[in-house]
Amino acid sequence: LSKIEIKLSDIPEGKNMTFKWRGKPLFVRHRTEKEIAAEATVDLSELRDPQHDKDRVVNPSWVIVIGVCTHLGCVPIANAGDYGGYYCPCHGSHYDASGRIRKGPAPLNLEVPYYEFPDDETVIVG
Ligand code: FES
Repeated sequence: LSKIEIKLSDIPEGKNMTFKWRGKPLFVRHRTEKEIAAEATVDLSELRDPQHDKDRVVNPSWVIVIGVCTHLGCVPIANAGDYGGYYCPCHGSHYDASGRIRKGPAPLNLEVPYYEFPDDETVIVG
């Protein structure tokens, strides 16, 4: 299937759930207010792959990214690492709660796929 439909009420605030989509892990993260506020104010000059949080999300409560490290393709661990977003244990890449690379060898932010919210309860990715 090229699209996946995900029920958002299954994912509590503060949690990240992993789905399988087009043969890859897909992360869906329900961010806390604290995470939303922190990522919105990051200075882009600190970033290796400069992208504003608002250009990576449709709704700030939800971060939806491909769960494949942009270094050599391992699957990062959620809610880990120095920036509280994702941590890739293969060679130590740290991503923030927007999926942006902050430290370690990965060159790029976690990829954001195309998705839309047909209603408040549902996201369709693909
Ligand atoms: Fe993630 Fe190397 S594959 S840090």
